[in-house]
Amino acid sequence: MSKAFGYRAYGGPENQEFFDRPVPDPRPGRLLIAVRAAGVNPVDWKIRNGWLGTDAPLPRALGVEAAGVVERVGAGVEGFAVGDEVFGVTLDGGYARHAQLDAAEAAHKPPGVSFAAAAALPVAAATAYDAVEQIALEPGRTLLVLGVGGGVGSAAAQIARARGVHVVGTAADRNRGYVEELGATQVRYGEGVADRIRAAAPEGVDGLLDLIGGADLREAAAVLADRTRLVSTADPDTAAALGGSAVRRTHGGATLGELARLVASGDLDPRITATYPLDRAAEALAEVESGHARGKLVLVME
Ligand SMILES: NC(=O)c1ccc[n+]([C@@H]2O[C@H](COP(=O)([O-])OP(=O)(O)OC[C@H]3O[C@@H](n4cnc5c(N)ncnc54)[C@H](OP(=O)(O)O)[C@@H]3O)[C@@H](O)[C@H]2O)c1
Repeated sequence: MSKAFGYRAYGGPENQEFFDRPVPDPRPGRLLIAVRAAGVNPVDWKIRNGWLGTDAPLPRALGVEAAGVVERVGAGVEGFAVGDEVFGVTLDGGYARHAQLDAAEAAHKPPGVSFAAAAALPVAAATAYDAVEQIALEPGRTLLVLGVGGGVGSAAAQIARARGVHVVGTAADRNRGYVEELGATQVRYGEGVADRIRAAAPEGVDGLLDLIGGADLREAAAVLADRTRLVSTADPDTAAALGGSAVRRTHGGATLGELARLVASGDLDPRITATYPLDRAAEALAEVESGHARGKLVLVME
């Protein structure tokens, strides 16, 4: 049996608990890994709340991304072998001693990249990568990121800066120094944000990556002339109403491999601001659920 942290009923954190589950034989197309690190994301509690469907059998382990060592290889999988150090999207929860990765959404971890860093890439950094590609700004243009201080925003700012794009991002004033370390200009969010963005980017904004939605998005969108360069992870309906769209995810091992290379070369830092042992998974998720975690939080198996 193998330890996992998840929930026995859909709903709030009061349903969370540790449980033991059998170590599975991976299904075709999957890898069974011994988890060394697992990323924590807002989608984890959204799934737990039942917002993304309630069909999956319970108990269900939390988490959708992990890094570890391959223990078993499912039928039909090519390019991975027992003992490989890998990371990717988990299909049965990453807050666990063992997890199954979708081999099509997994990649090898380069030796110079830690398990924690690799586990931080499949959701936030991969989404950031897809969004920056989709907005497709030329060097010298300016990208506005709403929610630059979180996991996706921290990666998006670095990926855009590496392409010569200026980045202005909304974050609380206490995160000003952190945002500047990302190479971006911090603007306080909340009422009046459009005027503050105009002051920070007097030449205008050429693209908008929204990670917040709602009133912030509606107000900030006023500064963007070309709304086809507005993409959102957080509020696709409002984005569409404003002339933009949802971030189109590519979901592939190739993007993960590229991100790992960027980390290995020092061009991307997943900005892990805290690590937690599996025993303290509830604390890590509560921090993310507060909506104010900085950068990425990662569980590291002791
Ligand atoms: N569709 C997809 O494939 C996909 C993939 C990844 C993420 N997402 C979604 O995208 C959103 C962002 O994800 P994430 O992982 O980056 O979240 P996160 O790491 O939890 O974001 C936390 C950050 O948001 C900031 N924040 C909170 N309220 C804000 C506001 N009104 N304006 C500006 N910043 C604010 C906080 O900064 P302060 O402390 O400064 O307030 C904190 O740094 C989530 O809704 C997530 O579910 C979707």
